[in-house]
This record gives sequence, structure tokens and C-alpha cells, in this order.
Amino acid sequence: MTLLLDEIAVAAARLAEAGVESPRTDAELIAAHVHGVGRGELPMVPDDSFDPRFWDQVARRAAREPLQHITGLAYFRYLDLEVGPGVFVPRQETEVMTGWAIERLTEMDVAEPVVADLGTGSGAIALAIAQEVPRARVHAVEADPLAGQWTERNIARCAAAAPHTAGRVTLHRGDFGSALGELDAMVDLVISNPPYIPAGAWVPPEVGEYDPATALWGGADGLDAIRGIEAVASRLLRRRGLLAVEHGAPQGSAVYWVFAEERGWRETRNHQDLSGRDRFVTAARG
Ligand SMILES: C[S@@+](CC[C@H](N)C(=O)[O-])C[C@H]1O[C@@H](n2cnc3c(N)ncnc32)[C@H](O)[C@@H]1O
Repeated sequence: MTLLLDEIAVAAARLAEAGVESPRTDAELIAAHVHGVGRGELPMVPDDSFDPRFWDQVARRAAREPLQHITGLAYFRYLDLEVGPGVFVPRQETEVMTGWAIERLTEMDVAEPVVADLGTGSGAIALAIAQEVPRARVHAVEADPLAGQWTERNIARCAAAAPHTAGRVTLHRGDFGSALGELDAMVDLVISNPPYIPAGAWVPPEVGEYDPATALWGGADGLDAIRGIEAVASRLLRRRGLLAVEHGAPQGSAVYWVFAEERGWRETRNHQDLSGRDRFVTAARG
């Protein structure tokens, strides 16, 4: 047993006591970040290289600061994105919906599919699509000025790491309700992970104290932004264009009916996340 592995075991116990959901994993990821190694290389760190800044970062995590704010990075599909105060940390659940969109765009018989990502935050969805569907043109909309700074930073970061994404993602600052008028009836796919938590619902400290309020709260039933997206997507999508919208696990049925046939939607479907819970709805414009 090396010194670092001993310290990781103590840190994991401390994080568990503080109520952190995945204490051992978080302790290992902090250790890997502080020592500049991969997680699998932790047993190879010599005792005399132990960096005591490990304990500063464990203390931050024990105070329920999100791991991604401590390391400054969030992983999303094949991307690593910069995150921190003022921007929503992208979640694993959203990767499944993004994968659905990437598959549909890949098989779409359109030379350069036009995509709108409504409420882009870090740019996770928009940039993953640009990276994995190089012929797509992605319009990313964000109302929160601080979040928009993170989007810009990640657009530049991705362009450096994956030059084929350069110029493929355009940030539009403002409310998605009135955005992208120049693209009315021209968009092939609208995607969004909007704020959808019902007002007053309990959220863990990592969420309530660190994710921006504009990214979380969706009104009394949590569906205010999703109803707004239904209206925007009806305006933006071309005939047979596709929509994907994320929602909370108990909202599957309610969101299904937002995209009802009488409002001009076809092929409305519920989809599950990796834990088998309802997580996003897709539909086609009739
Ligand atoms: C849950 S976060 C999702 C961020 C990112 N798409 C992701 O999946 O990680 C929702 C984002 O929508 C933005 N937002 C909320 N309401 C908006 C509106 N009316 N117009 C534009 N952006 C909005 C928030 O600022 C936030 O960045």
C-alpha cells in the first residue's frame, strides 16, 4: 500500500461521512487531478511525491462543492469541457439524448443539417454534435451572460482540440423564446436540456448551491421552459424536422402530452436514461 492509496482510503471515509454519493471515486479523481496522473496510475505515485493539496480539495468536496468545480473539467461524451461558477455542470443523463440526436443527424439525408441547442450552458450538447457530426451547423442559444462566457471558452477549447468543429457552433446570446428568427422553418433538429425542476423541490447542495438558478427551476410543475420549447421548436423546425427535450424522471407522461398530435407533432416517444428512468421525449414536426 502506498501513502497516496492510504490517504485516498481516509479521504473516501471522510467524503462518505459528509454525504457525498460516490466517495471512493471522488477521492480517486481528486488524487489523480492533484498529482497529474490518470486514475489507473495512482498506485504508481511514489510516497515522496504526495501532494498535500490533495487534502484542500478533499475538504472542498466534503463541503459539497461539485467535483467538476474542483477539477475545473466536466467530461461529456468525447469532450472535456471547462466548468465552474456560473454554468451548469453537464450530466451523464444528457449524453443519451445527445447520442439519439447524433444518430438521427448521421442518417439524415441532408448535406449540412441545421441544429438548434436551446439553453446551451457549457455548450456540451452543441459541441458534442459538432464533434461527432462534422457536417452539422449548430446554433447554440444561451440567455445567462455568465454561462455564455463558459460556452465561448468551450467553443474555443474544442476548436483547438478538434479543428473540424471550428466555425461549426455559433453562440446566440438571448432568450430562446425569441431567438433564431432568421432560421424559422429551416432547422432540421431542435435539442434542449432546459430547466425542469419544479419550484420548491429538494435538490442536493452540489446542485442548489452551485448550478445557476436559471439552469434549474421550471416553475410550479417544472414544465414552463418545456412548454416554451414546444412553441419555439414549432416555429424553427422544417416539416419532418426532429425534436429532443430532456425532463425529470417523473415528468415523462406530462412532457409526452406537451408534444401532442393536435399541436402538430408526430411520432412522440418517451426515452429512458441509463438507469431506466424516463429522461427525454422526441417528436417529429408534422
Ligand atoms: C439545465 S441547463 C443545460 C445546459 C446544457 N445544455 C447541458 O445540458 O449541460 C439549462 C440552460 O438553459 C439556459 N436557459 C434557461 N432558460 C433560458 C431561456 N429562456 N433562453 C435561453 N437560455 C435559457 C440556462 O441559463 C442554462 O444554461
